[in-house]
Amino acid sequence: MPRRAKISIIGSGNIGGECARSIAMKELGDVVLLDIPIKDKPELHMPKGKALDLACCGPVEKFDSKLTGTFDYSDIKDSDVIIVTAGVPRKPGQSRDDLVSINAGIVKSVAQNIKQYAPNAIVIVVSNPLDAMVYVMWKVTGFPANRVLGQAGALDVARYKTFLAFELGVSVEDIQGLLLGGHGDDMVPLPRLTSVNGIPVSDLLSAEKIQACVDRAKVGGGEIVKLMGTSAWYAPSAGTVEMVESIIRDKKRVIASAAFCEKEYNVAAQNGGKGLFVGVPCVLGANGVEKILSFNMNETEQKSMNESISHVKDLIGATVKLFPELA
Ligand code: LAC
Repeated sequence: MPRRAKISIIGSGNIGGECARSIAMKELGDVVLLDIPIKDKPELHMPKGKALDLACCGPVEKFDSKLTGTFDYSDIKDSDVIIVTAGVPRKPGQSRDDLVSINAGIVKSVAQNIKQYAPNAIVIVVSNPLDAMVYVMWKVTGFPANRVLGQAGALDVARYKTFLAFELGVSVEDIQGLLLGGHGDDMVPLPRLTSVNGIPVSDLLSAEKIQACVDRAKVGGGEIVKLMGTSAWYAPSAGTVEMVESIIRDKKRVIASAAFCEKEYNVAAQNGGKGLFVGVPCVLGANGVEKILSFNMNETEQKSMNESISHVKDLIGATVKLFPELA
C-alpha cells in the first residue's frame, strides 16, 4: 500500500508555520515541524505548540494530515520533501545579502543533519540570501542537483502577476508571466513573455505601467519588510507549497525555481566554467528538478540575466570567504 508523503519543515517560524498549514489544508502529506529551543526559555517548545494548534484545525478544515513538532532531527527520517526556512529574516534597511554571515552557518548545520537523517529527500531552500543558501545546501549534502532547489521565482512571479492584476483589473488567474535570475533586486522580469490569456500585456498596458509593475515586483519583499518590520511569510509560503505540490503529486508544473545551471542560460561560461544555482523555469515532479526549460533571450534580457548571474557569483564568493570549506 502506498504510504502518505512525509514533508519536513526546518524552521517553525512564520514561513515554516504557514507552509505547514497550507500543506495540511491541501493534504499533501504528513508534516514534521522542526526547530531549535529558544535560548533562555527552555520551558517553551514552539514547533510542538504550532503543530498541536494546526492539528486542531483538522476537524474544521477537514484534513487528516498528521502534524508533529520536534527539536530532534531523527524525526525527519524518510522525508520525501524537506523545506528549509531556518535562519534570520530581514529587518528594515537590510538587504537579503546582509544575512549571509548568520544564515550560511545555520543552513550549513541544517544541511549536515539532512544529509545524515534524510539522505533521499528533495530539499527546497527558502532561507536568504536564497541563491547562496541553495548552494550551501547542495555543497554540504552532496545531493544530486535535481534534489536541491530554491524557492524564489514562485514568489517573485506571484508578486509580479498580482501587481499586473491590480493594474489591469482582471483575475490573477488569467495572467501568465515569468521572472528569472537571482532572488535580489536585480531579478529579471520578462514583460515580452507576459500575457493575459495569450494577449501580450504590452497591448493592454503602457510601457510605463508595465515597468512600474516590474519595479514593484523586484522590491516586493522590501516593501513588506518596511511595512511589517520583518519579512513576508504568506506569499513566500504559497510559492513554496506550489513547488511541494508539483513534486509530491508529480504534476510537472513549470515553476521558476533556483536550480543548478551550467550550460543553461550560459551560466557556467560566466562563472569560470562552474555551474551556479539561479532562478530559471523548471519542470518540477517526483524527481525534483526534472528539466530546466531554456528559451532564446533577446539581447536586453540576456544582459540583465548576466548581471543577475554575476551578483549570485559575488554572493557565493562572499559565502566561501566565510566558510572556505564550501569552495
Ligand atoms: C521575500 C523574502 C522571503 O522576498 O525573500 O519576501
